[in-house]
Amino acid sequence: MTMRILVLLDCVGEAGARFKASLAKAGFAEDDVTVDLVPDGTSRSEPDLHRLVAGAAAIVTPLTLQVDGPLLDAAGPALRVVANYAVGFDNIDRQACAERKVVVCNGPPPMTEPTADLAWALVLAAIRRLREGLDLTRSGDWKGHEPQMLLGHRLVGRNLLVVGAGRIGGAVARRSIGWEMKVSYTARSPKPHLEAPPISAVRTTLEEGLPNADVVVITTSLTEETRHLIDARALERMKSSAVLVNVSRGPVVDESALASALADRRIFAAGLDVYEHEPRIHPGLVDLPNAVLLPHVASATVEDRTDLTDICVANVIAVLSGGDPPHPVDPPRGD
Ligand code: GLV
Repeated sequence: MTMRILVLLDCVGEAGARFKASLAKAGFAEDDVTVDLVPDGTSRSEPDLHRLVAGAAAIVTPLTLQVDGPLLDAAGPALRVVANYAVGFDNIDRQACAERKVVVCNGPPPMTEPTADLAWALVLAAIRRLREGLDLTRSGDWKGHEPQMLLGHRLVGRNLLVVGAGRIGGAVARRSIGWEMKVSYTARSPKPHLEAPPISAVRTTLEEGLPNADVVVITTSLTEETRHLIDARALERMKSSAVLVNVSRGPVVDESALASALADRRIFAAGLDVYEHEPRIHPGLVDLPNAVLLPHVASATVEDRTDLTDICVANVIAVLSGGDPPHPVDPPRGD
């Protein structure tokens, strides 16, 4: 029977051609597998989506698609693998997948470095007031150099706190060496590679780390434990000169509390790539001069997103071949 692979997004680097080449290499005959590309998968209605997934053996999903029990049931018993085109997988009901023996995969490696780069772009933009500077130069109102104009804060030698230091947090910490920063991090387990020189990071708790930090970068994944981890109380613990950057998932930060803290200058600035209810952004944030807001582009480079396409292809083909995928996501604990 022909197996069907369904790609519900417009992957960078032509997923169709990459699947074709890799399927042939893995020994699948042309008639064994069809690859259906649906670039606008997320804009389909639920009934349409359910019709599309029916009978699929593999689905490649964007992070904006909720993969839940009803979707899996609409796919039916042929479904063996869901390959998320992302490192995050909070859009996938892993329990529902485990119950139906559907393997979940993601693609961490190419997402690490571009996300760490973007975190630093946001740190620099926030602490050096780039948004206001760009607005001023475009406005035609700039009157020339003034010693007091757009003063930001020094970065060299200051304290960086990485919240939820995994791969991406580690890459953020590594980049801080150039600014000779003192690094602390929170994580479920100690990270000896971060604690060793040259990073020499110290593991801490959020409670203890926030009051000392000049720069707070959130890289934790979104779970029930991390939802609103940065709430009004956490923001109150930050220095008024500190900046907060979020490149993980929006709901880790209470956006309304952040908008108030920024408006009242209780913290200096924030740089955000992710939001609680994407693509909506809390109206209180949009016009704030001290909020640098990007549209969830942390991994948006041609090279990295093309590598991600290759990883999704490899994940899918490994499972359909009866092997272990290179990047499985563990089922939820307790399974
Ligand atoms: C992006 O947000 C990702 O999870 O890859």
